[in-house]
This record gives sequence, C-alpha cells and structure tokens, in this order.
Amino acid sequence: MTETSEPTIPTTRAATMEKIVALCKRRGFVFPGSDIYGGLANTWDYGSLGVELKNNVKQLWWRTFVQRRRDIVGLDAGILMHPRVWEASGHVVNFNDPLVDCKTCKSRFRADHLIGEKLGQHAEGKSPEELTAILASANLPCPHCGNRTLTHARQFNMMFRTVIGPVAETGVQVYLRPETAQAMFVQYKNVVATARVKLPFGIAQIGKAFRNEITPGNFIFRDIEFEQMEIEYFVRPEEGSAAFEGWLDAMRGWLDLVGLSGEHVRVREHAAAELSHYSNRTVDFEYLFPGSMGWKELYGLANRTDFDLRQHQEHSGEDLTYFDQANNTRFLPHVIEPTFGVDRTVLVLLLNAYDEEQTTDVNGKPDTRIVLRLHPRIAPYKAAVLPLMKKPELAGPARALFERLEAETGALVDYDETGNIGKRYRRQDEIGTPFCFTVDYETLDDHAVTVRDRDTTDQHRVPLAEVPAFLRERIA
Ligand code: GAP
Repeated sequence: MTETSEPTIPTTRAATMEKIVALCKRRGFVFPGSDIYGGLANTWDYGSLGVELKNNVKQLWWRTFVQRRRDIVGLDAGILMHPRVWEASGHVVNFNDPLVDCKTCKSRFRADHLIGEKLGQHAEGKSPEELTAILASANLPCPHCGNRTLTHARQFNMMFRTVIGPVAETGVQVYLRPETAQAMFVQYKNVVATARVKLPFGIAQIGKAFRNEITPGNFIFRDIEFEQMEIEYFVRPEEGSAAFEGWLDAMRGWLDLVGLSGEHVRVREHAAAELSHYSNRTVDFEYLFPGSMGWKELYGLANRTDFDLRQHQEHSGEDLTYFDQANNTRFLPHVIEPTFGVDRTVLVLLLNAYDEEQTTDVNGKPDTRIVLRLHPRIAPYKAAVLPLMKKPELAGPARALFERLEAETGALVDYDETGNIGKRYRRQDEIGTPFCFTVDYETLDDHAVTVRDRDTTDQHRVPLAEVPAFLRERIA
C-alpha cells in the first residue's frame, strides 16, 4: 500500500469501468435501477450475484469489527431521525456541494470536480468565491454544450427531504439520513447505559444513506442511495491520536482481508482547507480507478473530536458526559471514525479482481478468458458442482455432492448441468467461483471428482469423501 500523495505509475490493467458495468449486467451483479422504465439516473439494483457479494462484504466486516472484538457493539437505527439532529450535526448548514449552472443548456455541475477534471487542480474544500475565481480566470466552457455561460459557484444542500404526516402542508419535514454516523451519537447515552461498555469503546452500524449528489456517475462509485459501514470509536481526549493510528492499522488489515492491499491503494492526508466541519484530522484510503477517474476516495478515517457529542448535548439538553470511574472525572469523549462505503467496496473488489487472459478455444482459435479473481472469502459462490453431462447416472452423485457441500461447509455452492463443460467453466470464471468440482464417468468407479482452480485452470482429482474438507480449508 502506498503511503504518499504522489501518484503511483498505473500498471496496465484489464479492467475498465465499461467492462465492469457490462459484466455486472450480463451476469446479474448490478442492474440499472428501474431499467424497464428507461432507468432512474444514478440508482442501481443488485442482482442475484451482486447481493451475495455485497452481503459477504457486510458479514465479514461485521464479524471482524463487531463480533470478534470485545470493545465494539452494534446498532441498527432508523433512516428517519428528528430534524433537529441534522441542525445539531451541522448538516443543515454545512452539508453542501458547490454548484455551477450553465445558463444556456441548464446543465448543473460540481464546481470543484469540474476544476479537477478540466484543470487538474485539487479544489475540494474551496469556498464558492475561490471556485468562482478559478473558473472565471480559466474561462471554462460548459462541458455539455460548449458555451462559456457558467454561473458563479453556489452552495446546494445535499440532504433529501420528505414529510411525515398525510398532509404535506402540515406535516413535519424530515431528512433521509446522509450518513449512518449520527444515530450512534444520538443513541450514545442509551448504549452506555445498557451495553456495559467502558472507554475506549465503539458503536458500529451498517445501513443506507442518501445524498442528493449532483454530479454522480461512474457506476456505483457515487450513488444517491448507498450503504455505509461506520464505527464511532469513543476515547478519552488524550487517547485520540493513538487511537487514530490504531485505526489506520485496523483499516489496512481489512484491506488485506478482502484482498485489496497493493499498489492501487494509498493513504492521503487531508489538507486543513479540505477538512469537514467536524474533523481535526482526516485521511482517505484512495483507490487508483481506471481511466480518467484516477485516485479517488474509497474509505475515510476522521478524528471528530467531541464535536458531535457536544453539539447534541447542547441541542437536546441531555447530559452526554461520561463518568470515568478510574479517575473520578466527567468529560465528553472524543471520537475516531473509520468509515467504509459498501457499494464502493463492491466496485473496487470487482475492478481489482477483473482479469483477461489470452488463450485458445477448443478449435484452436484465439480466445479471451475473463476471470474475476475475487478472494474466496467474498466470492458469491465458493464452488460449483458440474456433472460432465446432463445424464441421470451423473446427476445422482453430483446432486449428492452438492447437498453435502452446502450442509458441511455452509458455503453457497452453484449447481449447473446445462451446456458444454468448457462454457460452464468460463461462466464460473466470470462470476469469480474459485473451484469447480466435475463429476464424470470415472467418478462412478474411482469415487473422485476433478477439481478445477479458477485462477490457474489446473485440474486434479480429489476423492469425493474429501471434497468438503478441501473446500473448507480454502475458504476459511
Ligand atoms: N460519517 C462520515 C461520512 O459519511 P464520507 O466520506 O462522506 O464520510 C463515508 O462518506 C464513505 O461513504 C466514503 O468513504 C465512501 O466509501 C462512501 N460514500 C460517500 N458518498 C457516497 C456516494 N454518494 N455513493 C457511494 N458511496 C459513498
């Protein structure tokens, strides 16, 4: 993993965003939202394989950071919260995107992104006045219609609004939460009272968040509805810096666990002007996306100090201080926040795993093998059972193996008996299945199957009785 803000030289990679989008639709990972109605911009639905991949990510994260740790407890809060939560958190005033409009074609763009893309300058965190000045001096044309008629940059709040109550005019206006974090501050007092936690401790949550992003795009990288996996880790104020370093290591450990470490991931420290309104230190884990996207945020780690608890204490009137029995003192804890986007994880896993191998088909013609080299821990199917042909004498032992594998390993296993075996292997390669077990006529005599390895395509025989243990060892 790179520890610098210098760009790493991109290695040649097979994956492009277009290929991933096409594969996702072709194989049932991700579909455009409301597809038969022409789609709803920047909404995406996860298909049968996508939902397995996404659930594997969430389950692994929950096991790693909640169930396997004694110092973190879970929470599953509602998406709708009291509107004053978002006044206290600062989102009503500060959660804005700087936008410019084109007076001619009425298109709308994020000013800082436009400057990044067209002028190569990092402009996130700059004020609307600063952005307007940069745009004016470069006299940039509208990327959509080409006219030089962009307005000044102005702030636009990104929270979605809705109304509780049957009559819109008299209902209460509420927001769809733009981050899962706030519920963990709002429920902090209840958690301390019930969960027998002592500092340092964390509250973790996985759930949906909504943002009225103006220039989304790039597939599931930036959606208007997405999922986050967040931890608010409460510490004594003097322990904040050490906890921050500890979480940097824990996040690196997570990247290793899902097979994402390496030269395409780096850690970038935020400059002071870029810091969110609540943070005194933030680093981003960035991924080197293909094509013009380049380095973009994958995860974040922030020191939120006591900003949120202090704000909620003031706005709610509840005492949110912590009584430290060790020192007989009362104070507001500081908070270290590691935050992980679920959809971005899925996208990066797919981009990182995608590979193309030049090979020949059964007739000796040049052919391309597409393979998703997903880590077996998160691959949707851990294995596939394939009878060599669709014949009852092969289906019997193949079905029996399939049922034993599911029962004895707990893994999701595919069963596929239709079509030519070469094409079935290719389908499993393309959806990232690490192992295929082929039941053939020899199986009826030697009680063994052929195991084919997705990454090397090597094949060897394994006795039927040993197949569940073989798979368990490799997916543990
Ligand atoms: N509670 C802090 C917070 O929400 P953030 O950097 O705005 O911080 C955290 O978001 C993570 O959520 C990001 O690192 C990213 O992985 C994911 N994320 C943010 N906005 C997103 C969007 N529009 N679409 C998909 N994922 C998003």
